[in-house]
Amino acid sequence: MSRGVLEKGEIRVNPSILAADFGELAEAANDVAPVTNWLHVDVMDGHFVPNLTIGPPVVASLRKHSAAFFDCHLMVTNPGELVEAFAKAGANLTTIHAEVGDTEALIAQMRRLGLSVGLALNPDTPFSVAEPYLEGIDLLLLMTVFPGFGGQSFIEDVVPKIKEAGAEIERRSLRVVIEVDGGIDAETAPVTARAGARVFVAGTAVFGDEDPPRAVVRIQDAVLAALGGR
Ligand code: DX5
Ligand code: ZN
Repeated sequence: MSRGVLEKGEIRVNPSILAADFGELAEAANDVAPVTNWLHVDVMDGHFVPNLTIGPPVVASLRKHSAAFFDCHLMVTNPGELVEAFAKAGANLTTIHAEVGDTEALIAQMRRLGLSVGLALNPDTPFSVAEPYLEGIDLLLLMTVFPGFGGQSFIEDVVPKIKEAGAEIERRSLRVVIEVDGGIDAETAPVTARAGARVFVAGTAVFGDEDPPRAVVRIQDAVLAALGGR
């Protein structure tokens, strides 16, 4: 059953450390800690996506320097072989991709490990693929770029899917939060917020800025203005 990773009405900007300097990850985490308590960790295996990034040892090291809620986005072909290591390393939530299959068993495995559970859909995967699992997850990640690399442009065509998911989650009175990831900044985040997103992953817009905490607040303010003005 969904646990609720946010209180009703809350939003979260979720800085992606993929866009930070990998030689200074602890500094990057601490830099944004005063303005948001989430941190997005992009895990890529060089197989599900053509890029190779962070594994459990790096998460374990970062855990010693950060009290943030670690949202680990597993862009990997075999998440079942890795979730336990991420749980031990200090992940709070792991998100698996529906495209890898075996979704039900993976959700049960994450729950057994005490992790909060996320399910991700690529931009071209329809919402219907996630629908059977909504009761069992805490977060639905709707990718707004094809995963693999930071710095790509927001795909606006995903917006109707965000609306569709939001409506169904509300209809079933679930506490699942919708997260968006890819090309999110102070211009695009409000568009997704109006559609129903509540967690906003931002890499380049945060760590590519000369003042990352200010960039987080700018996105937060833009989202709150968009939601307040509804
Ligand atoms: C893309 C990753 C994203 C990425 C977002 O595969 O899942 O989390 O870091 O980066 P930006 O915000 O630069 O699009
Ligand atoms: Zn991500």
